[in-house]
Amino acid sequence: GATQPSDQMGRGLRDLRISVTDRCNFRCRYCMPREIFGPQHAFLPREELLSFEEITRLVRAFAGIGVQKIRLTGGEPLLRAELERLVEMVAGVDGITDIALTTNASLLRSKARSLRDAGLSRVTVSLDSLDPERFASISDTPVPLERVLDGIAAAEEAGLSPIKINAVVKRELNDGDDILGLAAHGRETGRVVRFIEYMDVGTTNGWRLDEVVPAREIVDRIHASWPLEPVDAAYSGEVAQRYRYADGAGEIGVISSVTQPFCGTCTRARLSAQGELFTCLFGTKGHDLRALVRDGTSDAELDERLRSIWRIRADRYSELRTEETARRPKVEMSYIGG
Ligand code: GTP
Ligand code: 5AD
Ligand code: SF4
Ligand code: SF4
Repeated sequence: GATQPSDQMGRGLRDLRISVTDRCNFRCRYCMPREIFGPQHAFLPREELLSFEEITRLVRAFAGIGVQKIRLTGGEPLLRAELERLVEMVAGVDGITDIALTTNASLLRSKARSLRDAGLSRVTVSLDSLDPERFASISDTPVPLERVLDGIAAAEEAGLSPIKINAVVKRELNDGDDILGLAAHGRETGRVVRFIEYMDVGTTNGWRLDEVVPAREIVDRIHASWPLEPVDAAYSGEVAQRYRYADGAGEIGVISSVTQPFCGTCTRARLSAQGELFTCLFGTKGHDLRALVRDGTSDAELDERLRSIWRIRADRYSELRTEETARRPKVEMSYIGG
């Protein structure tokens, strides 16, 4: 039917985040630590990944139950060949009004223009430090910081601005000069820097509560240098809390998933590279949509399946988190993209 399903807490589904690969050319300690994602790690073989045609069919089905916004993630999505072809296919789906890309920007210089031409709306870059050495130690990659900054510049030249920068803040890793350094960079460039509380995603990052820097502390620290004032959310259910500089030099965001969870308005679902649907970032097991699309399931059956998955959803992990739940096995960030 034409009505859009609500879950057990009255939340609709608006935002689908699609991982297009589990590979990445970075090895950020909190996401893909090299001890686990080293030369021995088996990445998904090609045939395990959803094809662009399969993804597009699923996007069409999701658009039919309320999804408007698509975010392409990974791993590193620009490692998937011809990603611009997928962007073009998704942009052609009725009801999709916003297509964003989450990337580490290292490969953006050569791709920005074609992605824009294909219909990409905007880009969010993951970048945790502007100090070249700290950047190298956090990202554990030979790619120099310069290449990331050049990728961001290329996206701006291609008309994909304003760029958002996502910085995960972890105690004693980048909670010193980096916070003000990133804030200053945002003020100088007009890029919107968003500081993210370090979360217990996946199973391999060894998360501890005392490594989380509360969003409140981040805002207070920046406010002491450049006064901030709160700004209303850009849309209902926005993940980031926004603040603007009183002197007019732009805005920042903080994403306080640990200290101030926002499950109550969570309208997001996630599709892994191999086609599993997760109704929460902290899921343990997904729903196998790939089996459906490879089994000759009709559009009507697919529609009904998605509706019933969404109707029974009761996820609110961040509201229930404890040090004990944090130790439970969960899907890795590099499979569902954050
Ligand atoms: P905009 O559409 O630009 O507002 O982006 P967004 O709010 O979708 O944010 P983005 O995709 O950049 O997500 C930023 C970070 O917030 C992610 O990398 C996650 O770390 C975190 N995040 C996003 N969605 C959720 C969520 O549903 N739950 C939790 N716990 N964290 C989330
Ligand atoms: N906590 C918070 N954010 C994380 N990301 C990856 N792992 C974590 C974590 N443990 C972020 C990345 C990127 C996005 C995809 O998710 O930095 O911005
Ligand atoms: Fe790659 Fe992003 Fe994970 Fe870093 S956080 S390893 S850039 S997917
Ligand atoms: Fe949504 Fe799960 Fe994040 Fe809560 S923890 S906001 S339910 S994805």
